[in-house]
Amino acid sequence: MRTEQPKMIYLKHYKAPEYLIDETHLTFELHDDHTLVHAQLVMRRNPELGAALPPLVLDGQQLELLSVALGDQDLGPGDYQLDDNHLTVQPVSASFTLDTSVRIHPETNTALEGLYKSSGMFCTQCEAEGFRKITYYLDRPDVMSRFTTTLSADKLGYPILLSNGNPVASGPDGDDRHWATWEDPFMKPAYLFALVAGDLWCVEDTFTTMSGREVTLRIYVEPENIDKCQHAMISLQKSMRWDEEVYGREYDLDIFMIVAVNDFNMGAMENKGLNIFNSSAVLARAETATDAAHQRVEAIVAHEYFHNWSGNRVTCRDWFQLSLKEGFTVFRDSGFSADMNSATVKRIQDVAFLRTHQFAEDAGPMAHAVRPESFIEISNFYTLTVYEKGSEVVGMIHTLLGAEGFRKGSDLYFERHDGQAVTCDDFVKAMEDANGVDLTQFKRWYSQAGTPRLAVSEAYDAAAHTYSLTFRQSCPATPDKVEKLPFVIPVSLGLLDSQGHGLALRLQGESGEASTSRVISVTEAEQTFTFVDVPEKPLPSLLRGFSAPVKLSFPYDRDQLMYLMQHDSDGFNRWDATQQLAVQVLQDLITQHQAGTELVMDQRLVKALGTVLGNPELDPAMVTEMLSLPSEAYLTEISEVADVDAIHAAREFARKQLATSLFDTLWQRYQANRAVSKTTEYVAEAEHFARRALQNIALSYLMLSGRPEVLAAAQEQFDHADNMTERLSALAVLVNSPFEAERNAALASFAEQFKDNPLVMDQWFSVQAASPLPGGLARVQALMKHPAFTLKNPNKVRALIGSFAGQNLINFHAADGSGYRFIADLVIQLNATNPQIASRQLAPLTRWRKYDSARQALLKAELERIRGSGELSSDVYEVVSKSLA
Ligand code: TRP
Ligand code: ZN
Repeated sequence: MRTEQPKMIYLKHYKAPEYLIDETHLTFELHDDHTLVHAQLVMRRNPELGAALPPLVLDGQQLELLSVALGDQDLGPGDYQLDDNHLTVQPVSASFTLDTSVRIHPETNTALEGLYKSSGMFCTQCEAEGFRKITYYLDRPDVMSRFTTTLSADKLGYPILLSNGNPVASGPDGDDRHWATWEDPFMKPAYLFALVAGDLWCVEDTFTTMSGREVTLRIYVEPENIDKCQHAMISLQKSMRWDEEVYGREYDLDIFMIVAVNDFNMGAMENKGLNIFNSSAVLARAETATDAAHQRVEAIVAHEYFHNWSGNRVTCRDWFQLSLKEGFTVFRDSGFSADMNSATVKRIQDVAFLRTHQFAEDAGPMAHAVRPESFIEISNFYTLTVYEKGSEVVGMIHTLLGAEGFRKGSDLYFERHDGQAVTCDDFVKAMEDANGVDLTQFKRWYSQAGTPRLAVSEAYDAAAHTYSLTFRQSCPATPDKVEKLPFVIPVSLGLLDSQGHGLALRLQGESGEASTSRVISVTEAEQTFTFVDVPEKPLPSLLRGFSAPVKLSFPYDRDQLMYLMQHDSDGFNRWDATQQLAVQVLQDLITQHQAGTELVMDQRLVKALGTVLGNPELDPAMVTEMLSLPSEAYLTEISEVADVDAIHAAREFARKQLATSLFDTLWQRYQANRAVSKTTEYVAEAEHFARRALQNIALSYLMLSGRPEVLAAAQEQFDHADNMTERLSALAVLVNSPFEAERNAALASFAEQFKDNPLVMDQWFSVQAASPLPGGLARVQALMKHPAFTLKNPNKVRALIGSFAGQNLINFHAADGSGYRFIADLVIQLNATNPQIASRQLAPLTRWRKYDSARQALLKAELERIRGSGELSSDVYEVVSKSLA
């Protein structure tokens, strides 16, 4: 907890470090009621900054200093300065060693940052600034050092002792204790340090790299989870191969370890050679993890592994550059997931997520650029903007340069900056230099926040056979900047003729080969592109594959959208046309609900979705995406003022209409797919994900009919499924149904069966928290008293509290403000124990500008109550103060 007012930190104030740390020798003595940390730092004056010897200011928080020595000189209290965040000493020569000893208390660390205990094991989380809670250090990513780590602990309680790099020695330490030493040959910043001590089992395998080196792979888990590691191991091997094939990147140590821990603030962490994972991002097997969970494990294993190059070998100069590693690594893991599964479906899911959640962030009080210019608490900037929009920005570079040009750029980047801490500018420079292009204007994507709008209009000249598209771009004001300069917006497009074929795309003045899909770059505020030899007025297919993270508008009518759904050669845009059609139809229903008139749905949506559903040629995963109506959260995001009740009523009405009109086809497809599931062993592969996804969305529609044969089918699937995907979907359908007795019976039997599996219980909490049936808050409050629930575990908080505020919009936004009060109370409570989690649970309260004036007042009152609630962590302080500014 802070003692002074948190301060804003600025990118423009960046200064290189005054001192460097060539070697870091750490010793940890782990005990049940305290831990002793001894650090020997081999240091020198940064030669680039001259010969003078300014004071050495080390970062350190919540450390009990036991001793300090400079060289062989022990320092007394008069020889150094100590405050809540620093230890300052005066070096007397350009090269020296600094020895410190501190006492820390991992056993009472509830913030899960620094060294802490989770389910009896010791583990660390140092990114971004957690290492300073372990020892006094220059805790900044541009100080890179060679680490040697020795740990000692009780032998029985902690048979496994791990740290970064390679094991070099180990032995007994008296009768009950033992020790191990690890050496990491690669220079790294402190945020990549890790240590683990615990009673763990491991699954071991190997990987032979492209140059023929054999690497040992180990996944460490608590003994009861040893049967849930296979999927992560296979995902790791696939990731290692893929990074060699697609990026030419080989693994560099003899051993790669993953450790699963139950209490973790995020998904996982890429510590060099010793990744630490939230157990939810490692453990997966058919009986206990859904298809979505399997895909998430595969993606996160890949993400952390890919960081070994994009993040570790080449790291960030400062935390403003976070997207240098995160945006690029998300881009890399998306490419991997696209290659392992269906590329179009992966793109659809990523874009739906970005449009719903990142666009909302970009329009809210915490909006910031991909490379922010200032922050109070860096933990608040592990955001959708830095990760997902950052990935889109890298993706646009890929689109502009092509796959080959991009690979030349990434090769140059890794070669030029190996072992360095660099900036987003360095990344772009490598792309420019390898391709001989100028990306100066493009770089505005890194510095300007907000989601650009791109309004498109058309003009056809029947006599001249020319077709013009005029693009007008603008970007709304964000807290950092009001006026924005034009972006470079790559627009992938095609033109469809009346036969549904793509026309050859030739711009005025061009000659030679013309393709039917191409990318044009919109670089000005207003710009017109004229296509020639266009024999008839075409229908444009714009922003194919979502080639830029913008809000594009073109005045399509509903028949044109249905035409695109049928004929567009771009799968992503076929889905997007479906979404746009559904949005138009839902917006009509919202207006009708607001006017108090009878709801009447445009039957063209029923017809269009009926055609999709009835087409056995289509990928069932695509059919599922098309049948999924835009979420309430997305409808909220695209509303000027979101009418929570009207959105919910309109969407539920449309779902019921679809269920009624398409009942027979839904029923037939459900039964056919369920029959295959019954006779097929569970396989975690795309084709099987797709079949189950269609089966389960069909079931959720069918249940809206309330028919007894559907209830029976849901119960059959719930009782007899051999995998969690089918079981949990059936449970969700029952939980959201009006059949109270059956719902309660299913919930009880599920809880009884899985009470000893915390990750499955998270699903059980989440399904109930997200149920839109009336009385949501009371249900959530009752569940908080369930023995399996604890506020100390971030996964539990996300499952119950996060699902309620994030997915159960109708209950969270109850007009009496009870949902808001509930979240504010929790934020105040979590602020004292886990500021990172508190700050994240606060996000739903910050979007107050989206709602009617009554809800605005209620939301602001809760934000003010949090602000006045006492001493706030820098995490919560920053979000609350920016939201009320
Ligand atoms: N670098 C991690 C990633 O792969 C992010 C992360 C893990 C993190 N744990 C954290 C960030 C704790 C802040 C705090 O994306
Ligand atoms: Zn990452």
